[in-house]
Amino acid sequence: MILDRLAVPIVLAPLAGGPATPELAAAVSNAGGLGFLAGGYLSAPALSDQIGQARALISGPLGVNLFVPGHPAPEGSVSEYAARLQAVASRAGVELGPARFDDDEWPAKVAQVTADPPAVVSFTFGCPDAAVIDAVRAAGSEAWITVTTPADARLAAAAGADVLVVQGSEAGGHRSSFTDDPADDASGGFGLLSLLQLVRSQTALPLVAAGGITTGAGVAAVLAAGASAAQLGTAFLRCPEAGTTPVQRAAIATAAPTAMTRAFTGRLARGIRNRFMAEHDAYAPAAYPEVHYLTGPLRATGRAAGDPDLVNLWAGQTHELARDMPAAQLVAALADDARAAAAAASARLSPG
Ligand SMILES: Cc1cc2nc3c(=O)[nH]c(=O)nc-3n(C[C@H](O)[C@H](O)[C@H](O)COP(=O)(O)O)c2cc1C
Repeated sequence: MILDRLAVPIVLAPLAGGPATPELAAAVSNAGGLGFLAGGYLSAPALSDQIGQARALISGPLGVNLFVPGHPAPEGSVSEYAARLQAVASRAGVELGPARFDDDEWPAKVAQVTADPPAVVSFTFGCPDAAVIDAVRAAGSEAWITVTTPADARLAAAAGADVLVVQGSEAGGHRSSFTDDPADDASGGFGLLSLLQLVRSQTALPLVAAGGITTGAGVAAVLAAGASAAQLGTAFLRCPEAGTTPVQRAAIATAAPTAMTRAFTGRLARGIRNRFMAEHDAYAPAAYPEVHYLTGPLRATGRAAGDPDLVNLWAGQTHELARDMPAAQLVAALADDARAAAAAASARLSPG
C-alpha cells in the first residue's frame, strides 16, 4: 500500500478550481507525503498535461482525483434561482452562465487514468461502479473513495475500494456525500472524529482522515483514532505553490466563520461566509453542476475584481491556522509537531 510507504503520513487534498497545481503536488510528494492533482473541472487533455508536469517534478507517488458524475436536476428546478440571481449579475455587469448538466468528461478521464495509471486514483461525489474500480486497480492504481457517512463507507468497501477517505463535516469545499439530499442537511453531517470512530468500527480498510486538520496535533489526533494518514486541504491553500487566488488567500488568513451552502454550485460545500452566501443560500436548489455553471461568470468576475462577496471562498473550519509557507516546509513542520503531540499524549496516558 502507498500509505505504508509514505515517509510522512500526510496527504494533500485534491483542490479543484485552481489551487491544485503540479508544483504543489510535487512539493508534498517530494517532502515524503502524497501529492494530489484535482481532475474536477479540467478537460481531459488539461488533466493529462498536469499529470505530465507533476511527474516531471516528482520522484515519488502521485494521486489523481476524479468527480463521479451525478444526474441532471429535474427540469425547471433552477429557473427561480436563476431569476433571483439576475439582479446580482446585472449589478456586476455579467451574464449568468447556462445552467447545464455534464459528466465532467468522466469516460475520457477514466480512460486516461487507466491507460496511464497514477499511484492512486481517488473518487469524490459518489461510489463508482465496481467495473470502474476494477479497471483502475487492474491498471495498477489504488482506488480510494471519499465517504462522509458510515452507510457510504459500507457501500464503498463493498464496491472494492482499497482505501476510504473519511471526510468530516469540518472540511473545506464540497462534501463528498454519495447523494446530496437537502433532507439530510438538518443533521449537519458527521464531524471527523465521530465518523472516524464509526467507520473504523465497521471496516479493516485503511482510512485517510480529512476535515479541519491544519496542525500537527490534528494529524496526531486522527492517527490515534485509527487513520493511516491525514489529508489536508485548506492548510495548503496559502502555500506559494498553490494556485489560490489573492481574494481567497486574504479571506483564509482571517478568523471569519464558515458555513455550508449550495448557493454557489448547487451542491453542499463549506466556505467562508460572505454576502452572496447570506443572501442566496436559503433559495439555492440541489442542482449540481447546473448551479455551478449558472454562477460561473459571477464568480469569475468576483475573482478578477478581488471582490470577496461574489466568490466561493472554500475553506475548512480551521482556516485561520493555515500558514503562508512553502509546502515542503509545511509538511516537515506538521510532521515534527505531530510527533511532539503524539509523545505528549502518550506521556499523559502513562504518567510517571
Ligand atoms: C478549495 C478546495 C477545493 C477542493 N476540491 C476538491 C476536489 O476537487 N476533490 C475532492 O475530493 N475534494 C476537494 N476538496 C475537499 C478536500 O478533498 C478535503 O476534503 C478538505 O480540504 C479537507 O478539509 P480541510 O480543507 O479543512 O483540510 C476541496 C477543498 C477545498 C478547500
